Amino acid sequence: MALDIVIMAAGKGTRMKSDLPKVLHRLAGRPLLQHVLDTASDLGRARVIVITGHGADAVEDAIAGSGALAVRQMPQLGTGHAIQQVVPHLGDEGTTLILNGDVPLIEAETARALVEACAGNRLALLTIELDEPTGYGRILRSGDAMGGRVLGIVEHKDATAAQRVIREVYTGIMAAPTAMLKRWVMALSNDNAQREYYLTDIVEMAVHERVPVVASHARAETEVLGVNSPLQLADLERRFQRRQADALMEAGVRMADPARFDLRGELLTGRDVEIDVGCIFEGQVVLGDEVRIGAHCVIRDAEIANGAVIHPYTHIEGARIGPGAMVGPYARLRTGADLGAQVHVGNFVEVKNSTLADGAKANHLAYLGDATVGERVNFGAGSITANYDGANKHRTVIGADVHVGSNCVLIAPVSLGEGGTIGGGSTIAKDTPAGQLTVARARQVSLAGWQRPRKPSKA
Ligand code: UD1
Ligand code: CA
Repeated sequence: MALDIVIMAAGKGTRMKSDLPKVLHRLAGRPLLQHVLDTASDLGRARVIVITGHGADAVEDAIAGSGALAVRQMPQLGTGHAIQQVVPHLGDEGTTLILNGDVPLIEAETARALVEACAGNRLALLTIELDEPTGYGRILRSGDAMGGRVLGIVEHKDATAAQRVIREVYTGIMAAPTAMLKRWVMALSNDNAQREYYLTDIVEMAVHERVPVVASHARAETEVLGVNSPLQLADLERRFQRRQADALMEAGVRMADPARFDLRGELLTGRDVEIDVGCIFEGQVVLGDEVRIGAHCVIRDAEIANGAVIHPYTHIEGARIGPGAMVGPYARLRTGADLGAQVHVGNFVEVKNSTLADGAKANHLAYLGDATVGERVNFGAGSITANYDGANKHRTVIGADVHVGSNCVLIAPVSLGEGGTIGGGSTIAKDTPAGQLTVARARQVSLAGWQRPRKPSKA
């Protein structure tokens, strides 16, 4: 059956106190609206329509390429008015699912159940019982038992004191037979406390036409919580992160503290992985068996092989790390860093677009950029590749078993022969031979009788 999905995203989001449209604020690194779009695409073949209004240009830019159709609502006269704008774009039959751009954690399974509940021309509402229902539309039922038939939804601002006691609320998510929905929303009026066209008024219309209304409960509160303020955004972020952390621990990952863990993307883990506090994982990260991640590491788009240890405060982006490698503390691996097995990269070492073959070491205070480093090379403290001449980048090739002393500058393009040694403090601008010691620095001299300059004495 044809499914249309409408995502409401035209509202102002005043309480965010931000110039960024509310639905573009990020949760776990992705815009709120993107979470909803991803869930929509999990529902299979459907036409997806996003209602834009406030910040429409930015929101439409953000969804370009998603396949969703943007429909503008100008001005914004309420949720019912919003749906009126999409009526010409909806199908003639089938079901329409209404989601909210600022309710990011709705799960596909819940949405699918709602769509199924709609079969046979019924109106399906997603509801939840809240201890603190202030602000929400309340579900009115016949009798006071929860099992009573749904009669309507009354908005908080329009509710009587007795109605405000009701704890079952409308989550803002519903599924309706498309043909009926179109007819109902075109008949809405704005005769209410906010002078808005309330989508929720269609419930009463359905009841009036004896169309069955089913209200199904969301499984978890987190699924239906909306974001209206930075506080709520942070709260939802923590709930979402906790959910991810729980799933990883379920898979065997040992976390020092699941409350201090952030994943903004996807993390694949092997057996016996340990993650200390305060780490942030972004993009696609793969951790092999027995990988240990120290405290406060930021790791984005990386593959870390079995048994590698990442010490605290290490930044890794776009890198591959071989089995048994040791990185950090305070190391920075940038895009194209490719470390072999048992490689050591120590404190204050930066590696960019460089390959370090098995067993190579750069333990302290070094920069390797655009370099090919052979097996077992020892790259001394304070040494760097000068890979950039101000216009172009050049490669440095270091043969296997080379020892580069401390504080050397390797001016690329340059190549160091296998097994060679570079004396500390050398500036190497020409290729060096294999197996020999190369020293390129001024000879040390001592001047007898030399005197320090003196300040002129005051007369
Ligand atoms: C709405 C429901 C309320 C429900 C609550 C759940 C109505 C009348 N009320 O209330 O029963 O408990 O959501 O959060 O529907 N939007 C537009 N255009 C508009 C107005 C709103 O696109 O003209 C969008 C907003 O961007 C938002 C969603 O619709 O994504 C809900 O709007 P909001 O103003 O937050 O609804 P509430 O008044 O809180
Ligand atoms: Ca409102």
